[in-house]
Order: sequence, then C-alpha cells, then structure tokens
Amino acid sequence: MTDRLADELLAVARPLAESVGQHLVEALASTRTIVTKSTSTDLVTEMDTWAERTLVDGLLAARPDDGILGEEGADIAGTSGVVWSIDPIDGTVNFVHGMPGFNVSMGARIDGETVAAVVVSPLHRDTFTATLGGGAARNDEPIRCSELTDLRRAVVGTGFGYDPARRRRQADVLAAVIPQVADVRRVGAAALDLCWVACGRLDAYWEVGLNDWDHAAGALIATEAGAICTDLDGGAVTVAFAMAAPPALAGPLRSVLHAADAAAV
Ligand code: IPD
Ligand code: CA
Repeated sequence: MTDRLADELLAVARPLAESVGQHLVEALASTRTIVTKSTSTDLVTEMDTWAERTLVDGLLAARPDDGILGEEGADIAGTSGVVWSIDPIDGTVNFVHGMPGFNVSMGARIDGETVAAVVVSPLHRDTFTATLGGGAARNDEPIRCSELTDLRRAVVGTGFGYDPARRRRQADVLAAVIPQVADVRRVGAAALDLCWVACGRLDAYWEVGLNDWDHAAGALIATEAGAICTDLDGGAVTVAFAMAAPPALAGPLRSVLHAADAAAV
C-alpha cells in the first residue's frame, strides 16, 4: 500500500460523505419513512437507504473494481483489493429525532486494515479524516486525543445495542463504571464517539457489539490521533468489543471494564 493510494481513497470518499451529510441536514425538515430492523428500536429511514445508494454509486463511479460493505445491504466483492466499510447514517436515532451526532462514516480497507477514513458530522460542521500512518484531522487541522492521566477525571462515552436483554447488561456495566470516572456521555453514534476520542472531546470510549461499519473509519481516526483502540484484552477492535483511550487511560479503563465483566455483555 502506498501513501498515495490512501490519499487517493480519501479524496474519493470525502466529497461523497460531505455531500451526503449536507443532504441529510436538508432532509431533517421533511417527514421520515421509518421501518425497523433487528428490534423495534433499530430504525432505518428512507434517508439511510438513499445515503447508502448514493455512496455506493459514487464509489463505483470513481473506483469500479472496489468492494463495498454497507449497513443497509451493500455487499460487493470487488477485485481491486480495496474494500469499503460504510455506514450511510451512523446514529439513525439521532437523525430521526433531529439531534446532532448522526454522521456518514466511510473506511477503506486493504488486507483487512483500514488505510483511509472519513466521518462527517454535518450538524457539528465536522469532517474527521485519517490515513494509515498519515495522522488524523478535523476540518484539515491535525488532532490529538486527550492528555488526561487520571481516569477519575475522565468523561467517557459508551453506547447501547438494540437488543433489550443486552441493554440491561450494558446498563449494569455502566453502573459499575460511572462511580469511577468523572462523567459518561451517550453520543448515539459510535463513529463519532471514536472521532471525539480522537480530538479530545471525549477522554475515552467503550462499547460492546458494534458492527464493522460502526468502527472501520472511527478506529483509524482515533488511532492516528494517538489513542489506543483495542478489544478488552488489548487485541484489535472487533465487533465483540471496542474501546479507545489515550495511552495513560487505556490500562486503568481496561481494568475497570474487566472488573465489570464488560465483555460478557
Ligand atoms: C448505532 C450507533 C449507536 C451504537 C449502536 C450502533 P446505527 O449505529 O452507532 O451509537 O450504540 O451500537 O448500532 O444503528 O445508528 O447506525
Ligand atoms: Ca447506520
């Protein structure tokens, strides 16, 4: 992989994500058509479907041989060795409720490793980008994660899945963590949680049960901003467990989450 290829991939994805993000803001004023997916709280709107189709069409127009996996069903094998993992709207519940935090997330992978990433949060006017080894930026300004060293002063993000039984267990873990940190935020969009760790708005973040497209872009952005992104045992982020924290907080947060049996959720 060349740095030039990563830059080229980002140059393809960024305008697509920004344009779709802008359309999502304009669509906030209109009435939604909503259906449910895995549970009654897992929502899909007509704009999720539109956004994925628009991103897929744009990617294939620029790079017809790439593979694409998308939350709303895109599943294209490709032949170039580049596979995109895209969430057309991460934070659909925020979008439906007209709240900030919904975002467009696109990560390009080669041999399973994300090499270029963009996350656009249009209501914050934020475009987060990263390339592997090339650093992370917000609106083209380099970003770094928090320098905090004391977990008791940390503002930590987390999220909840859509399965009611899993949510109950996630709430139990949250109850164990919250007395040991300064505060907790539920942004409602995993890709943005990771980007906010990257730029220091959140000191750290954890979540159980993400999908690949939830973390493909955000984990590279957080890592390139200096955060440690791992599963609960220090391995690569998986769909089973994701956490992101500055080096000084990663160990302490991991201990607290281990004690809360967070991975069993
Ligand atoms: C969800 C959001 C949410 C997280 C869930 C994700 P979606 O993605 O990222 O913050 O807690 O685990 O599924 O459904 O809005 O694309
Ligand atoms: Ca989504």
